[in-house]
Amino acid sequence: MATRNSSGSGAKNKIVAMLKADHKKVKQALKDFEKIDPEEDPQACQALVEQTLAEIEVHAELEEQLFYPAARGAIDDEELIDEAEVEHMTAKVLIGQLKGMGPEDEKYAATFKVLGEYLKHHIEEEEGEMFRKLSQSGAEWDTVLEEMQTQREQLMQEKGLPAESAEAEVEAEGSRSRATGAAVRTGARSGGEARPQAASRASKSSSRKQ
Ligand SMILES: [Fe+2]
Ligand SMILES: [Fe+2]
Repeated sequence: MATRNSSGSGAKNKIVAMLKADHKKVKQALKDFEKIDPEEDPQACQALVEQTLAEIEVHAELEEQLFYPAARGAIDDEELIDEAEVEHMTAKVLIGQLKGMGPEDEKYAATFKVLGEYLKHHIEEEEGEMFRKLSQSGAEWDTVLEEMQTQREQLMQEKGLPAESAEAEVEAEGSRSRATGAAVRTGARSGGEARPQAASRASKSSSRKQ
């Protein structure tokens, strides 16, 4: 317990850094998406969308289950949390629509872009307002950080996302072409246990050609 107390101020900063790194990844994915033509390369398009949606879902769940409840105790503007929760619900409608579509759908790219625009706005509010207003006190940040890290690993495994070794991974990821990375990862995972949802959807669209 004593060690936890001594690292209390760092825990909140680490949580914010983790969430910001996720935001950066989403924004990078949106930029990468612009470079893909869904008609020319539907597989890369789908791989990027599916990986990004899985990452967004992990992030959203961590915020909803652990971060927002903690933040409520550490902020004097609880409306910000209410708004963020409503925005998550709205984003999930678009995510649900995308999950029921494939790159052959006329509105696939448009839906992903609209989701992206919506998320950019949401991210701006989180980073520009919510994160800044969080106080050091009012939440057990050490415990929240531990829970977020544990749950993050579990969720990523469930969704078949590659494990993150360290923060360096996040940095490296941003500068790499995610479209290529996603396509390679999907292809390399044919016989594996990971990514059950994405794999089944990918085979749905590719089975038509066989
Ligand atoms: Fe966020
Ligand atoms: Fe959020």
